[in-house]
This record gives sequence, structure tokens and C-alpha cells, in this order.
Amino acid sequence: MQKLEVLGGKKLKGLIQISGSKNASLPILAATILSEKKIHLSNLPNVKDIDTMINLLKSIGSIIKINKKNKSLSIHNKNNLDFIAPYNLVKTMRAGILVLGPLLARFHKAKVSLPGGCSIGTRPIDIHLKCLSKLGVKYNISNGYVYASAKKGLIGAKIKLPKISVGATENLIIAASMAKGISVLSNCAIEPEIKDLVNFLNKIGAKIRWTGRRTVKIYGVKKFKENKYKVMPDRIEAGTYMIAAAITEGNILINGIDPKIIKTEIELLKKIGVTINTFKDKLEVIGKNKIRNAKIKTAPYPGFPTDLQAQIMVLLCKANGLSIVNEEIFENRFMHCAELNRMGAKIVTKGNKAYIQGDIQFKSAELMATDLRASVSLILAGLVAKGRSKINRIYHLDRGYEQIEIKLRKVGAKIKRIYS
Ligand code: EPZ
Repeated sequence: MQKLEVLGGKKLKGLIQISGSKNASLPILAATILSEKKIHLSNLPNVKDIDTMINLLKSIGSIIKINKKNKSLSIHNKNNLDFIAPYNLVKTMRAGILVLGPLLARFHKAKVSLPGGCSIGTRPIDIHLKCLSKLGVKYNISNGYVYASAKKGLIGAKIKLPKISVGATENLIIAASMAKGISVLSNCAIEPEIKDLVNFLNKIGAKIRWTGRRTVKIYGVKKFKENKYKVMPDRIEAGTYMIAAAITEGNILINGIDPKIIKTEIELLKKIGVTINTFKDKLEVIGKNKIRNAKIKTAPYPGFPTDLQAQIMVLLCKANGLSIVNEEIFENRFMHCAELNRMGAKIVTKGNKAYIQGDIQFKSAELMATDLRASVSLILAGLVAKGRSKINRIYHLDRGYEQIEIKLRKVGAKIKRIYS
């Protein structure tokens, strides 16, 4: 079992290069199922969830050649793909459900394991299924699998998603790209990763146009072209390192991210006293010794991202006075609070609200990661805690952060991975 050891007290200084976006790469990889031509993807992050998605695609018959060195791969989905996404691969990565839409669109049938819940919530897929049925999909659920089919192929439709859902929007856009006729999807999630997915699909021959803020019009096509595509940078990784600079009162140049896609995060950090200078594809973050408290609500993009909620909470532990964080997206995303309190934080949670006492001094401890973003919040606290902290179960971390201890060491953190 690997763990990370962090010695607190270092101000981080230097440059951090942002990797490709995990949450853009996953739907784009799933969407390659639509095409029988070879597709070349680059700037994929070297993280566990991408390996899992690659294994899932290989398990249905995709021919994949990986070039780890330049983080690229070529993928060829011939006509003999299997249509079964097995439990052992989908259970560890809920994004496996994203193969449902493309399998149905191209092969008109799919058997995909239900993703199951995780530590942050039950992660249902009712919206995916309800909306896919409006494209002509029939499905039933038994022994933990979704059995879905569309005998005559998918038929375009006008669909309003009942609730903003990133995954359901992605599944629907991919499926509708190959449906007969026109689809108009409204109340879509509009995260930058979804825009990246649409750009990728159009690049391989789809006809997708944004006709409203949350509305997309899709002219279904029969065939897709061969092409190559570079995945966008990871805005959640960038936000995490911005908070690392702020909390250690350091000065970090975060390279390879367009500040326009993290406007909300930049505005919030500036509002509480962090200095941020923005440039075309990078930003400089300078931490200050005193920051102000805040009231934050997570929300679908362009609101404050739930994937940065645990991280900003650590910073607010150092702010002047009481802060409040409302988690509006997931029903159980405060698992990090108990571990932070073991390090001296004073966080009280009531339902989906967390009350964070400021001006605390973190003390080192032996800690347990519970989910991807909670685990990185423990590292942030460890960076400023008195003494040496140990973080266990860092497999959660490796799902979504590429070489985090190497990137942090490059800017002066005392952090190392222990292989026990
Ligand atoms: C995506 O998850 C991201 N994962 C999550 O990032 C992110 O936290 C989430 O969007 C919100 O931004 C990937 O992109 C791989 P949702 P997703 O569907 O698609 C409910 C990370 O840390 N819902 O937008 O699963 C759901 O329970 C991960 O990188 C239904 O009720 O999120 C949640 O409360 C964690 N029925 C809310 O909607 C459904 O059919 C938003 O979920 C689908 C979702």
C-alpha cells in the first residue's frame, strides 16, 4: 500500500505545468467508439482513470496503441466491437457509463454495468437512461447491468434534461451525434470539458452547434472521419495548485491553462485576498499571510466547482473568521472534514453545509484518503501543518492527479511517496 509523507512549512515557489484534463479525456475516449476510423488523441493525463477507460475500451475490442512518453494514443474501433462493459472495470470508475451512448448509437445495443455509488454519493444514472429512451432506446436493469437496445437505431429528438448532469449531457451528445435526424438538447451541463467533447466530435465529422447557453442542436451523421485531437488542460488540477500557492503563502506560475475557463475560481481567490496575475495561457498566484473568510456554494459551471470544494475548505481554515461552504451537487462530499479536524481544523457540518472556523494552525497526523478530491485536500493541509503528515490510500489520488508529489517537489514542497 503506497502512502505520501508531507513535511509542512515550505512556501511553494516556481512553475507547475498543468496536465491534460481527466474529465475531458474520459468522454472523448468513450466517444471514439462512434468511429470505425483510427483516431489519434494527445495530451491525455497519465492517471489511473485513463488507464481504466483504456482497459474498458480494450475489453470491448478497441485496438489501442499508447505512447506514454508523449501522453498520446491511437485508437481503432473496428466493426467487431463487443457491446459489454464489465462490472470489474465500471465499478472503479463511474465514467465507464459513458460508453453506453456510443455503443447504442453505433451498434444499437449495449450491456453496461451499473456504476454503483462511491464515497461522495449514490451516483444514479436515471437521467442518462430517461433521456436515452427519448432517442428510441429500450432498456431494463437486472443483476447490476443495464441491458439497452435500439432495434431501428437512435432517432433524433427534442430533449430537456430534467436536471443539469455532466455525464448525462455527455452520453446524450455522443449518442445523438449518430442518431437519425436532428436532436435539440436543452438544460445541458456546459462544463469546459463538455465543450471540448463537442469540439472533438465536430473534428471527427459530427455536426453539433450550440444554439443557446445550455442548448445544443445535433444533426446526426452516419460516418465519422479519421482525425487527431489534443485534449484540453485540467482546470481542477490548476485550481488545486492555485490553492496550494495561496495556502503556503508562496508564488507559483501555473502554466498551460486559459484563465478564462477558471474565472469563478480566480474571482473568489482574489476576493479573499490572494494576488493573481493572469496571462494568455498561464497565471501567477501569490499567497498572502492573511485571507478573508467567505461563503461559497458549489454549482454547475460556471459556478464554483464541487471538485474544488474540499480544497478551498482547507484554505478557509486559515482565513479570518467563520466561513460557510454549501455542497449543492453531491449528497456526501464532506468526508475530508473529519480528517481535517484530526489535524486541528474546526469544521462543523450540518446537512450540506459546512461551517469552517478560521485562524487555525494545522498539526501533522496520519491520515486516510476517502476520495479523489478529499485526498488532495489532506495534502494541502499537510503542506502547512506543523510536522510530518502521512496520507494513506493514495490510490484515490492517483486516479486524477498526474505525478502530484513530483510537481509539488519541483516548487519546493517536502513530499515523498513511500512504497511499503
Ligand atoms: C462529473 O460527474 C465529474 N466526473 C465529477 O468529477 C464532477 O464532480 C461532476 O461531474 C459534477 O461536476 C467526470 O466528469 C468523469 P453529474 P457526473 O451527472 O457526471 C445527480 C472528479 O472528482 N445525477 O453532473 O457523475 C448526481 O447524483 C469527479 O473528477 C442524477 O441524479 O456528475 C449529482 O448529485 C467526481 N441522475 C448531480 O446529478 C443522473 O442520471 C450531478 O451529477 C446523473 C446525475
